[in-house]
Amino acid sequence: MRKIQVHLKDHSYDILVASGLSRKLPELIRPFRRQGKTLVLSDTTVHRLHAPVFAKLKNADTHFFFIKPGETSKTLKTIEQILSFMLKNRFDRSSLLVAVGGGVVGDMGGFAASLFMRGIPYIQVPTNLLSQVDSSVGGKTGVNHALGKNLIGSFYQPKAVFIDPEFLKTLSNKEFQNGFAEVIKHGIIRDKKLFLVLEKNLCRIFKRDPALLSLIVAENCAIKAAVVSCDEKEQGLRAILNFGHTFGHAIETLTRYRTYSHGEAVMLGMKAATLCAASLNLVPLTHASRILALLIQSGMPEKAQLAPAAVYNAMFLDKKVRGNKLLLVLPTAIGSGTQINSPEKAAVLAGIRAITDG
Ligand SMILES: NC(=O)c1ccc[n+]([C@@H]2O[C@H](COP(=O)([O-])OP(=O)(O)OC[C@H]3O[C@@H](n4cnc5c(N)ncnc54)[C@H](O)[C@@H]3O)[C@@H](O)[C@H]2O)c1
Repeated sequence: MRKIQVHLKDHSYDILVASGLSRKLPELIRPFRRQGKTLVLSDTTVHRLHAPVFAKLKNADTHFFFIKPGETSKTLKTIEQILSFMLKNRFDRSSLLVAVGGGVVGDMGGFAASLFMRGIPYIQVPTNLLSQVDSSVGGKTGVNHALGKNLIGSFYQPKAVFIDPEFLKTLSNKEFQNGFAEVIKHGIIRDKKLFLVLEKNLCRIFKRDPALLSLIVAENCAIKAAVVSCDEKEQGLRAILNFGHTFGHAIETLTRYRTYSHGEAVMLGMKAATLCAASLNLVPLTHASRILALLIQSGMPEKAQLAPAAVYNAMFLDKKVRGNKLLLVLPTAIGSGTQINSPEKAAVLAGIRAITDG
């Protein structure tokens, strides 16, 4: 079992990572239950694929709420349904919420917990790669709005995160690759050792070698926990985790979220950012070419059929842009990155041209 601490003064918590942990959930959750009821929130796919985990959680004080899987459920309307369900079933301030699922379930579980009776404790039990290495750690919670993704939300930290890499056995290759983009991201901008592990073991990782997956999930949680512990509310260092995302969000926006998964768009974004860094002489070419090789071997898509100027302009629509100035995270070597304010347009376009064919 690996234990990782997120240090946030009054909001500190532990992340436990171990194979088979989901079978011990009732015992793990018990210390966080007060006299009140527990809501287990999940989606219908996770419930169907992992029914025994839910069966073990059944007892007189536990209620279950299953949402339709996917991003379309991530709305204020669903939050209202969850809160109404809790009120109708006489939940109160001593209640606990346990979110068992991917990033959508986790983000919504945390948000519902932050709202119910001005805040009840919650626990994250992430079940896919993206949620295990990224979204379950750090306390960003919320929902989408018709005008944009994740525009409504709060910072609200869980009391604990329990991660069982065995959940990953039932993940489709597409979902696995979606989460893997964030794993590569952490290796490139934060952890050379992780990058080397990925470079050396890609085949075994994609075959879902259990020991290797446990190690990778724990390492990624440690990286995210360390960044979040330094900068809970994204005032500084945490922005480094946006590597590849400013380019990626532009691609997702222009293709209306239909052509690429988030992970694929971020992979393209990491390629563009790496070439932008190379064009600014920020990163040695030997490092840049190894980064590109890892992205290609991990299944980065072919060039997007988009005009470079359109991608450039769409980057300014990102909600993290301030005062119409681009703030890009670029790699400086394998394992480290930096933020560049208002990078030269020519360098940004050089990166975009490498990933577009418009
Ligand atoms: N809070 C954060 O810091 C943060 C960070 C990154 C992303 N996010 C959010 O996360 C969301 C995307 O997360 P996601 O891709 O996990 O979405 P998701 O929760 O919709 O999960 C994707 C799919 O994986 C399925 N799934 C989950 N576990 C499974 C398992 N063990 N086996 C088989 N299928 C399984 C789900 O049913 C779903 O169909 C977005 O809304 C994004 O904004 C949040």
